[in-house]
Amino acid sequence: MDPPLPIEGILPPDLQGTLLRAGPGEGAMGALHAVELRDGTAVSYLTCESAADANVLWHAGSVLALAEVGLPLQYSRQLEAEDFSGGLTVPIASHIHREAATGHRVLFGVEEGAETTQLRVGEWDAAGALASFQSVTLERSTWQHDLAVTARHIIFIESPTEPLGGDDAVDFRWAPGAECWVGVVRRDGDGSAVRRFRLDPCLVTHVVGAYDEGIGGDEGGIVLFVCRYEVPEKGQPVDLTSSVVGEPGIGMTSIGGGLAVLERWRIEGERLERVQVDDRWVEYPRVDPLCEGAAFRYGYCVEMASGVAGGMEVDHLGLLRLDTQRDEVAVWNPGQYRTAGEPLFVRSVDGHGDDEGWLLTVVDDATRGASDLYVLDASSFGRRGPQAVIHLPVRLPFRSHGEWVGADRYR
Ligand SMILES: [Fe+2]
Repeated sequence: MDPPLPIEGILPPDLQGTLLRAGPGEGAMGALHAVELRDGTAVSYLTCESAADANVLWHAGSVLALAEVGLPLQYSRQLEAEDFSGGLTVPIASHIHREAATGHRVLFGVEEGAETTQLRVGEWDAAGALASFQSVTLERSTWQHDLAVTARHIIFIESPTEPLGGDDAVDFRWAPGAECWVGVVRRDGDGSAVRRFRLDPCLVTHVVGAYDEGIGGDEGGIVLFVCRYEVPEKGQPVDLTSSVVGEPGIGMTSIGGGLAVLERWRIEGERLERVQVDDRWVEYPRVDPLCEGAAFRYGYCVEMASGVAGGMEVDHLGLLRLDTQRDEVAVWNPGQYRTAGEPLFVRSVDGHGDDEGWLLTVVDDATRGASDLYVLDASSFGRRGPQAVIHLPVRLPFRSHGEWVGADRYR
C-alpha cells in the first residue's frame, strides 16, 4: 500500500470520505481521480482512464462517470470498471442533481424527434432504481447542460442556441434573435403541465441552487441562482461556425464583454424577476449538498477571468462565497501561478449552517507542476489561509465537476 499523501497543516478529523473528480487524462481520454481522507490523513490517491470525463458522482453503491451527453460509465469504489446497472438506454446530460431530502437523483436528456424536441427528465431513487419519468416538449432544440431542482419542481432554461450540426451532440451555436424561455414542471407531473416564462435572452450554463419558498405548494415562489451570460442580439454579427459551449461545459463566449455573472431569479405566479447579484465573473457553482433542492444561504463558485481579448481563453482566479441573505461576496485567491477549481462544501459534523464546514478545491500549482487539494474553513472564508494542503502526486488541471462522498454514504 502506498504511503499517505503529504499534508501541510492539520486535516480536520471529521473529513472522512473520498473526493471524486473528473478531468483530462492522457491523450484524448479523460480520467477519474479519487482521494480518500480518513482520520486526519490522505490515505490514498486512485485514478483511472474514463471516456466520460465531464462529471463523476457516487450513487447507489457505485461511481458513475458522465460525458457531456451519453450513458453513464460505472466503476467500483476502487475505480474498477463495472457494467452500468442504472436501467437507462437513452443518453443523458452530465448534471445529475441529488436532492438532499430524498437522496433522489434527477437526470435529464434531450431527444430530437421528427417534429418536436423532448426534454426527458427522470429520477433514480436512493437505491438506484428509475422511480419516475416525464417528457416535456421544448420550444426548440437548445443547449441543455444543467437544470434546477427543488423539492417539488424542475426548472429548465431554453437559451437562444441551436445545434451546430455534425456528429457532436454537445455543439451548439448562437441563434441571435431567438426567444428565451424558462419552463417549470412539477417533479411528480407527467410533463404536460408546463409553466412558461419568457425573458430577455441570456445563456445559463450552471444553476447554483434552487428552492421552493415556504410550504404552500405551487402558490409559493421558486428561487434559483444561476450563472448568466450575455447573448448576441438579433442582427449582431457572431461566429455561427463554432460552438458556444467550451470543452469544460461552460460558455466560451464574451458577448457583452464578459463571462457569466450571478443572478437571482424568483418565480411567482405569472412573473419571473431577475436581479444581478454581483458583477464578478463566475462559474462552477455549488451549494452545501445538504441543501440541494432546499433553501440555502451560501453559494460557492470559481471566480473566472478572461485571459484573451475576445474571451475564448478563460482562466480561473480563486473562489467566491456568495451570501444570498446579504448579497455579499467574499473572495479567496490561492496566489500567483495557482488556479482553484470547483469548490465542494462539506458540512462539519457539528455544523448547523451551510458555511459551517470545509471547502475542498483542487488547486493547480504551475510552479510545482502538480496539483494540491486545499481544505478551507468555509466560515472564515477569505479571511484565513487554508486549513490543510494535500500534495497530489499528479497535475490535475481543472476541468469538469466532481463530488465529495462522505464515508457515511458508502454504507
Ligand atoms: Fe457543467
